[in-house]
Amino acid sequence: MADLMDTITSLAKRRGIVFQSSEIYGGLRSFWDYGPLGVELKRNVRAAWWKAMVQERDNVVGLESSIMMSPKVWEASGHLESFTDPLVECLECHQRFRADHLEGFHEPQSGTEVDEGTVDMAAQPKCPNCGNDRFTDARNFNLMFKTYMGPVEETGNEVYLRPETAQGMFVDFVTVQAAARKKLPFGIAQIGKSFRNEITPGNFIYRTREFEQMEMEFFCEPGTDEKWHEYWIEQRMAWYTGLGMKEENLRIREHEKDELSHYSKRTVDVEYAFPFTDWGELEGIANRTDFDLKAHEKVSGEDLTYFDQEKEERYHPYVIEPAAGVDRATLAFICDAFTVEEAPNAKGEMEKRTVLKLHKELAPIKIAILPLSRNERLVPKAREVFDLLKSRWMCDYDDAGSIGRRYRRQDEVGTPFCVTIDFESLDDNAMTIRDRDSMTQDRLEIGKLTEHLADRL
Ligand code: GAP
Repeated sequence: MADLMDTITSLAKRRGIVFQSSEIYGGLRSFWDYGPLGVELKRNVRAAWWKAMVQERDNVVGLESSIMMSPKVWEASGHLESFTDPLVECLECHQRFRADHLEGFHEPQSGTEVDEGTVDMAAQPKCPNCGNDRFTDARNFNLMFKTYMGPVEETGNEVYLRPETAQGMFVDFVTVQAAARKKLPFGIAQIGKSFRNEITPGNFIYRTREFEQMEMEFFCEPGTDEKWHEYWIEQRMAWYTGLGMKEENLRIREHEKDELSHYSKRTVDVEYAFPFTDWGELEGIANRTDFDLKAHEKVSGEDLTYFDQEKEERYHPYVIEPAAGVDRATLAFICDAFTVEEAPNAKGEMEKRTVLKLHKELAPIKIAILPLSRNERLVPKAREVFDLLKSRWMCDYDDAGSIGRRYRRQDEVGTPFCVTIDFESLDDNAMTIRDRDSMTQDRLEIGKLTEHLADRL
């Protein structure tokens, strides 16, 4: 399975989907750049989420809050105190690890005496780097990136890069609710970058220090929260499968009581069977209760209650939060779509074909326009087709190399349709449309092309 991940990672680099950031300087660990096809794929993932979570609902509105917020936000939310991971250092090779990621690590038993800010390394795990079993005591390491606002680096000027987009929705709750004139239940959704100084980032774009989240805070009346939680679990699973993700590669995992975040009454994870692990978290769906609104009310002194006109009373809404990662979802869609199969080449001989069987909505390029050759009569015809389709769909024009190789290049990045312009096209104004998955070819007049593709896309 690790080999499969290597194959996917090298395909992603070779085809300009995702590659290391600052590569000419040796790269910056855990930071990644999305190339020409990667940006399209990621834009499509975001757009599919926005459509399902905001556009198609009359009770969810959007928000774009800033990445840096008042430090008071992180004091109130509990991030300054509790957003930590246990960090240990190997006494032999001095590599640092997240203690709870080491095999054999146990959380301290309740009642165990541990120094403040440390956790007990009850069993003796081995260092994954050198095999030594002696580590420093674990200490709690805060994952928030800190910087300074203005020219003077002093305590009063400290600000943090947000570790989640969610807090924007809580601190703006009253303003957004009043402006959008929404009654409960309603949601505020946001897509944006978040930053965490992860101790052990890795597995390509699965765990990075800079990443993008798609989060929605759904505010509802206390007492209805458990019902809404179930509703969102079902909706979110349907989003992944609706975009073609195989059901057998998805599962729901209930958080144990002792792994719940400080704000959560119940959390389930949507997990995906990534090639590098048994199951990995794709998305968390939490019942955050009224924790955040009450916490911000306490620290800010502002009233963050909701006035229920029917009941004629004020209360703090409960919050259900589906929180997904753009990068993780993108990686899961790539892994799920990656297929190697036997297929006939142009001479009818069987050979291996790599196809990214992405859902059409997600495919970076929808249509490739391929003149059979660079012949001076074929090129203008092919350009005419490109001009006809480009305003409606993301198209690629490619006239380099043999037609068979060009089909394979498009298959590899998941292009659903190839339109080929040959010498007959000059006479009958018709062209061939090749389907990525079935590899079947239909011939169609140029006048019917747009309608035909619209039906199939
Ligand atoms: N507001 C709740 C929250 O942030 P989370 O489970 O910590 O919950 C939500 O994060 C999602 O964000 C995760 O399920 C994952 O998809 C993504 N995510 C979190 N940390 C990440 C990281 N270091 N790298 C990439 N994606 C990450």
